[in-house]
Order: sequence, then structure tokens, then C-alpha cells
Amino acid sequence: MLAKIILSIFMVCVVSANESLLVTKVPGNVLGIKTTSKAWMSANFVSIKTYPMVSIKTNDLKANRLNFEGGTKNIQVKALYDGKNIAFLLKWRDSTKNIADRLSTDSFEDGFGIEMPDKLDVMPYVDFGDRKNGVIYFMAKAGLDLPLQSNDSVLFGQNETKQTDNAINVTEEGYRFFGFRTFRRINLQNSDTTMDLRYKNGYWLGSISKQIVDKFSNLNSGAFIVSFSIYDGQKAQRGRLRNLSAWIVVKLEGMDTGEQLAEKMNEKIAGDTTNGEKIALKNCSICHRYKQVTRAPKYMAPDLSFIGGYGNLEYLKESILNPNMVQVEDFTKTAHPNFSWSETNEEGKEISIMPSFDWMSKGKIDDLLAFLQTLK
Ligand code: HEC
Repeated sequence: MLAKIILSIFMVCVVSANESLLVTKVPGNVLGIKTTSKAWMSANFVSIKTYPMVSIKTNDLKANRLNFEGGTKNIQVKALYDGKNIAFLLKWRDSTKNIADRLSTDSFEDGFGIEMPDKLDVMPYVDFGDRKNGVIYFMAKAGLDLPLQSNDSVLFGQNETKQTDNAINVTEEGYRFFGFRTFRRINLQNSDTTMDLRYKNGYWLGSISKQIVDKFSNLNSGAFIVSFSIYDGQKAQRGRLRNLSAWIVVKLEGMDTGEQLAEKMNEKIAGDTTNGEKIALKNCSICHRYKQVTRAPKYMAPDLSFIGGYGNLEYLKESILNPNMVQVEDFTKTAHPNFSWSETNEEGKEISIMPSFDWMSKGKIDDLLAFLQTLK
């Protein structure tokens, strides 16, 4: 018994944003496999951290607070591929099972999402992509427990709702996003992508299987990136309000291409966090709030409290040196006249109100980055 416990402890490895998730190659076909499939036994779980997405505040103040307070959560993830198809299994703790209740507008359901770039070799903004680089987002939610009516799919805008053996209707949705406000729904009925969801002993198990190359994305490389999201309906998480991982490098076992991507994504930085904190206080805290530092007006700029969690190093660096590369959207002039995050320059281009800090010495930038990475 003891030996078994020790073994299972060692079998769970931890993948941080600085490592890769290795996908085991298996014979046969992984397309369509469910959370309960025996095939999962041939892969080990790795632990991936997710962080509340707090950059943006929504209009629902209570939900913003619940999202923030929910803090960091771990997901156990394993993945399989068969040469043509890939499948992921997610397992995470959630003591409350929340299923969509169509009679109440104030109830939200549990679920998970998986995000991937729509092309190789780019790193879109991890929160639903950006104007230049799109993402594909697949989401499965614990759907209605009630018998379905013919017009439900119209009412809820679902792509596909089906009854699973554990009496949870999995609501599957697929989107192509170019920033949170710009998206197109993907018709999953015409695709081979399948998702499954099951609740057992205080844990959710979620799975997704899809072709490695389909009309939405091309993952046919030895390595690509994905990001995982989980939603806790009890905490009113939905849409952007969710727990989100950084971009994680996924490596297909037996394929040795994609090393460059892994190396680039897993780059580490050596800097003095204490000095970085001082630099941030002096240069950033007038606009940004993070952790206990709340002197900036609330909507002035993204909240950086968990940016070291879901923001990859490369992205953080780019944000500081070239704020116009990726602009965190939402706070436009129309929506927030006093706190627009962008402005139009003389050439008519939308530019970030954040100044570039490219004048700072490399040493200082490194210290700042090292500090930003502690914000999680
Ligand atoms: C004049 C206000 C202002 C200052 C000063 C400022 N920022 Fe920003 N920052 C913004 C705004 C507005 C955005 C959102 C628009 C964008 O993405 O450029 C932003 C975006 C960011 C992002 C991306 C956040 C996310 O959620 O993805 C990071 C990281 C960031 N800033 C870091 C910093 C750091 C570090 C400093 C100090 C060295 C700093 N900022 C100084 C206004 C500011």
C-alpha cells in the first residue's frame, strides 16, 4: 500500500511555464476517446498551474472579486497522440459541482477550455489572442441537467449538446478569436473534435480529442503551444474570468523538431527581484495595480497581480519594450472615456498609452522581469 502511494506521488511531475508537456505516442486511434478511456493509463499526469485572469475588470464587481480571491489552482494534465490525432485529459479539484441552470441568470457552470494558436511559430496574447495572431478556443461546460428541448441550442447558442453517461450534458463550443471582442464561432458539428466532462469524488475530468491537422489549426510539428483554462461556476467564473495557464510547450514524443520553440518559450531570466520591485514601484505603479500596490486608479491599466503566472517571459519583455506589439483590448474610448488604454496617433494608428521602457539598461529590465515573474 505504502509503496503504491509513494509511486503515485512520483508519477505526478510538475510542468511550469519553463518546461514542456510530453505527449505519449500510442498505437490505435485516440480520436473520440472519453475521460473514462483505458488508453489514458499509458500516460502520466503532469501538474500545470493556472492563475485567475485579472488583467481586465468586468462590469460584475462581485465576480471580479471572487475570481481574484480564488487564487492559483492546479490542473493535472496528460496527453496522447496516435500520429494523426491528439487528445488531452484534464483533472482538477472542485468541491462544488455547478451545472448550468437555464431558469436562473445568476448561475454559472463549471468547465474547461483549451487554447491554441491557429498557426505555428507565433505566440498570440494568451487571453484569447490579439489582432495580429489568432487563437482557436475549445470549451466544454457542464450543461443543462434538464431534458433538452429542441430550441435549446438556439436559446443558448450551443454548437452541440449531448447527454453523457453520467447525466451531464456537455456543452461544447469552439471559436476563433482575434482578441476577446473579435471572434467567430466554429461549427463543431462538422468537425472531428470531441469533448467529454465528468464529475467524480470532488474532481472534474475533462477531455478533448482532435485531429493534429484540421481546417482550424495545424499542430503538425514536434512542438506547439497550448494554454488551459478552468471555470468554477460557484465563483461566477465565465468568459474572461477564469483560471488560465501560461502558454505551455507541448512536445510530441518521438519527433525531434520544434526544439527551437521549446528553448525560446522556456527561456529563464536571472535578475534581482528586490531591485525589480523598486523599479516597478517607481515606473509602473502609477498606472498598474498589483498585489498590495493599489495606488493607481482602478481601471487605468491591466491589473498585474498574476501576470507572472499566465504571462510568458517573452510576452512580458515585449510588453515593456514594445507596448504597441500586443495591446490588451477592452478599455476603449467608447467604453471607458476616462480610462482608454489606447489612443490614436498623428498617423491615425491606435497606439498603447503605455510608454516604452526601452531606454532602461538591460540589467534593470532583467530585474524588472524577474520581479514581474514573481507576481502570481
Ligand atoms: C501610462 C500608464 C502606464 C505605465 C506608466 C505603465 N503601463 Fe503597462 N500598460 C498600460 C496600459 C494602458 C496597458 C494595456 C494596453 C497595452 O497592452 O499596451 C498596459 C499593459 C501592460 C502589460 C500587459 C498586461 C497584460 O495583462 O497582458 C504589462 C505586462 C505591463 N503593462 C507592464 C508594465 C510595466 C512593468 C511598467 C513599468 C515599467 C508599466 N507597464 C508601465 C499602461 C501603463
